[in-house]
Amino acid sequence: MSTSNPQALPLNSLDEWEDDLLRRYPDPEQIASGKTTAEYRNYDTPERDTVKEFYRLNHLYQTFDFVQAKRADYLQFNKKEMPVWEAFHFLNQLVDDSDPDTDLDQFQHLLQTSEAIRADGHPDWMVLVGLMHDMGKVLCLFGEPQWAVVGDTFPVGCAYSDKIVFPEFFAGNPDYTNERFNTRLGVYQEGCGLRNVTMSWGHDEYVYQMLKDYLPEEGLYMLRYHSFYAWHREGAYGYLLDDHDREMLRWVKLFNPYDLYSKNPNPPDWQTLKPYYEALVAKYLPAHLRF
Ligand SMILES: [Fe+2]
Ligand SMILES: [Fe+2]
Repeated sequence: MSTSNPQALPLNSLDEWEDDLLRRYPDPEQIASGKTTAEYRNYDTPERDTVKEFYRLNHLYQTFDFVQAKRADYLQFNKKEMPVWEAFHFLNQLVDDSDPDTDLDQFQHLLQTSEAIRADGHPDWMVLVGLMHDMGKVLCLFGEPQWAVVGDTFPVGCAYSDKIVFPEFFAGNPDYTNERFNTRLGVYQEGCGLRNVTMSWGHDEYVYQMLKDYLPEEGLYMLRYHSFYAWHREGAYGYLLDDHDREMLRWVKLFNPYDLYSKNPNPPDWQTLKPYYEALVAKYLPAHLRF
């Protein structure tokens, strides 16, 4: 599906999804005990109509087979090769469809996330996770529809949890009535571990696969599951987890508030920060990233 299809762009900008996350999870103190999705569903605004349509399409089209096809294509990383700093410029083309007066560009969100992590004294690899965590949104620039790039992620190949936002929209998904996929475990085994579970396709899995050789395991969990709100905020899918996932969950939870609550209208002073970040990127990442 190309971006010329209206179904590719239900949101006015990708930020609408993240603004909506803030409405669902307004309070940093309420991690894991925040508002339920049921309470949230009673909330209506015009902006929410675009978010609702976005989730309708996401839940309709993210099937097990769809995800396998995207993995087979994108995980070859044969689309593009760029120096890291050029990749941020590439990603920033995404600002085009949003309001430049009110929204900071993608790089500013990444930098505000990483700076908030740095200010709290966390390890430098976690600062780098903050800087890189949304790089996978370049999928939009390769023609992917918004619903295959952003939005909450969830396992495919087994029954959809009612803890996923707008669970009613899964009724239209062909996997919902496919007996191979619509049982509690579906194609998986009890306690198999998330590494053996296929997640809906989006920017989390893509950036995880891009960077999996360069960061510690805790950081890789932050990248891979940062949009898996049904797990890290709502506690769903316990039956798929193994001990390693349960151990890593606290790192995913540690990261989430920096992603959600670091947004600030004042951009950080990049010229001052540049030497630190150039050294950080050079310490962990190769000179070029493959997309
Ligand atoms: Fe993200
Ligand atoms: Fe983010």
